[in-house]
Amino acid sequence: MDKELTSGPAVLKGTCAVPGDKSISHRSVMLGALAKGTTTAKHFLFSADCLHTIAVFKALGVPIETTEDTVTIQGVGLKGLKPPKADLDMGNSGTSTRLLLGLLARQPFAMTFIGDDSLSQRPMGRVLNPLAEMGAQVTATDDRLPLTIQANAHLKPLDYTIPVASAQVKSALIFAALQADGPSHLTEKLATRDHTERMLQYFGGHLEKDGLTLTVQPNQTLTGKDLTVPGDPSSAAFFVAAATLLAGSDLTLTHVGLNPTRTGFLEVIGQMNGNISVANLETDFEPTGDLKIKSADLTGITLTKESIPSVIDELPLVVLCATQAQGVTEISGAEELRVKETDRISTVVTELTKMGAKIEEKPDGMIITGPTPLHKVQGTLNSYGDHRIAMMLMVAALLTKDDFTLQQAEAIAVSYPDFYDDLLKLLVK
Ligand code: S3P
Repeated sequence: MDKELTSGPAVLKGTCAVPGDKSISHRSVMLGALAKGTTTAKHFLFSADCLHTIAVFKALGVPIETTEDTVTIQGVGLKGLKPPKADLDMGNSGTSTRLLLGLLARQPFAMTFIGDDSLSQRPMGRVLNPLAEMGAQVTATDDRLPLTIQANAHLKPLDYTIPVASAQVKSALIFAALQADGPSHLTEKLATRDHTERMLQYFGGHLEKDGLTLTVQPNQTLTGKDLTVPGDPSSAAFFVAAATLLAGSDLTLTHVGLNPTRTGFLEVIGQMNGNISVANLETDFEPTGDLKIKSADLTGITLTKESIPSVIDELPLVVLCATQAQGVTEISGAEELRVKETDRISTVVTELTKMGAKIEEKPDGMIITGPTPLHKVQGTLNSYGDHRIAMMLMVAALLTKDDFTLQQAEAIAVSYPDFYDDLLKLLVK
């Protein structure tokens, strides 16, 4: 679907509560299904990806009800899942696919996972290889979807160093380790988002953490809980970027998730001379707070491998900000961007270069020279079906005085269906 985009000059003013966190919404359904008793997840994200997770668990026999902003899950435990009557459709969702590969690796029945074209090209070997070490039988061609998890009676305990910095892989292996025949040890090379660990403990489970190594004991009893999903910091980031870049903006975002494994974008904008303050800090099973953002003149920054995991989903926005910053911004160690919903190095470079940005593409990152005014393009902009590219381009258009048509704008439904409407409500022309 093509969409005509609003351009500037404009500022962002007012207050907005961004929708619930995608990573935490997925996990609330997964852990809710495995727990004993009832789980309610308020401020749940009803986006396409999370709806796929709900549909999969319903197909596995888990009673789930939804109201306007809450999901209620009646837990059945790992032994209470039922064989699905059809293939399990993961849509565009890498998180559903990878986490469920681990969670469903030991069931007495086989299941087939399918997904859309983008998901069917994404690498699953990063989960399939360690699962194979645990003895799980999974049939896949070229380690991609469609794939079939066979009926597996046992999983061996795993002692494994995860070669890529990926919370999806870590979470999949935690779920598998909960069903292994003994304790497992999982080591990360760099810390990634820890929502699975936090929620598991909130549900009464336990994990031992020693540096970057987790020890997971099998056969834990989890109990359903009531929780409120924090606002998604990755969705908030689009407004943070827009308010920072549009001179005269003054914006408040309420109840945003501030888990330290997710606040990389706020830190990066701070280091670039941005103007963000945090108020009303609270800590439940996840920390949250209100963000106040004022526009600022940014300066370039250098980002290396160590800082990538906590800003991985916001890197397209870092690049957009860097096009408006004084000086050079260099991003390296970010090769994981190439295996997201699109190759985000390639899609960011292609679309922002069309608009006049100066970006050099590297195998593992980009070098951006700013500031460059962004301008009208020959033809259209394209999200390539990637939600985060679509929303980044919607913000980019505000930095110009020109009209744009964005192809495949409907991709935003994956994580933030009302993003454009919410953006327009905050815009003052
Ligand atoms: C996610 C982890 C990240 C992130 C994705 C959500 C999660 O992926 O990019 O949007 O919920 O665990 P990787 O683990 O592949 O880096």
